[in-house]
Amino acid sequence: MPQPSTASPEPSDDAAPEGGATITPYRDGPLIVRGDFRLVDQDGAEIDPGRGTIALCRCGKSGIKPFCDGSHKRAGFSAPSAPSRPRPAAQLRQED
Ligand code: FES
Repeated sequence: MPQPSTASPEPSDDAAPEGGATITPYRDGPLIVRGDFRLVDQDGAEIDPGRGTIALCRCGKSGIKPFCDGSHKRAGFSAPSAPSRPRPAAQLRQED
């Protein structure tokens, strides 16, 4: 009987670092990223996060994108923490 491989798959560039990260959308605020993560631009170049826990802008008003600089408060940005409705793909799965 064939035995399952014990070799770990090679990590890809898209793979989450071991231990992973937690991303929390804060109500009316940024995305807080905690844990073991890499921050890269769309070309794969490393972005120095400068600290272990970071806030990523999701309001579009920050002057230091991709990081939050608090501008969401002055802009009156409003968004829930949890999704207000399922994503379209999730709706399709429910209909199966
Ligand atoms: S979420 Fe804070 S500046 Fe955009």
